[in-house]
Amino acid sequence: MPSSLAVPPPSAARALDGWTLHEWDEVSSTNLAAAALPPWSAVRAEVQRAGRGRQGRPWVSDRGGLWFSAVLPTPGNTAPWALLPLAAGWAVLSAVRELGLSTARLRWPNDILVDRRKLAGILVDKFSSDAAVVGIGLNVFNHPAAADPALADQAICLADLLPAPPPPSDLLALLLPALAREHQRLEADDAAALCRCLQDGWRPGRVQLTLTGSREIFAGFFEGVDALGHLLLRGPTGTIRSLSPHQVDLLREIF
Ligand code: BTN
Repeated sequence: MPSSLAVPPPSAARALDGWTLHEWDEVSSTNLAAAALPPWSAVRAEVQRAGRGRQGRPWVSDRGGLWFSAVLPTPGNTAPWALLPLAAGWAVLSAVRELGLSTARLRWPNDILVDRRKLAGILVDKFSSDAAVVGIGLNVFNHPAAADPALADQAICLADLLPAPPPPSDLLALLLPALAREHQRLEADDAAALCRCLQDGWRPGRVQLTLTGSREIFAGFFEGVDALGHLLLRGPTGTIRSLSPHQVDLLREIF
């Protein structure tokens, strides 16, 4: 393992709302730092040296943002847990809406956007069969475009949207209970309620996507999600195609 990906030594931990929270100044990735921790552990870092995004993309994690991972139990590894990445998206969306950002929305599978710019992203890793590491990156006071100028018109921070955003540590205290709530809903097998919320979080519209490992481009209208969290798209002939997050490499909204 390259030294930049090495897991840091154990930090002092503190209890927060039923979670055991480990805080570091810098790690490679909080998801990796949380990989071997038991359920109901969380890891937060001020900076990630090698923040990981979906589909193997890098995630800029400069100082001032909220970068954390929460370890959630997924006993039995049964169907409802397939919805965990989407449930995490809903947890983040409802928390940022509580801050007054009523225009925040979801883009499948779990990006949080304001207008066309990304406020938060989620990466769920399975390092063991009975737990999932839910990694959440929320732009708060940081400056993603300083690290990657291409992000200037793609990323947005809470500080661009609110006069006085809460500090990342307060946002964590809002997000961890929201995650626990959504986890409880899946545990109770109430996928239907989650899917209703998700329909509300998405703005229906036209999307164009590139399928993983192929050059096939598929365009269609957003029709919702099924019980597995797959994207349902209505193609030009009216047929509905169901796509899992792993099947989709790039998704672009057509305005
Ligand atoms: C994406 O939208 O591509 C997902 C981004 C996920 C970023 C978060 S930041 C905390 C956690 N640690 C990581 O390395 N990635 C996730």
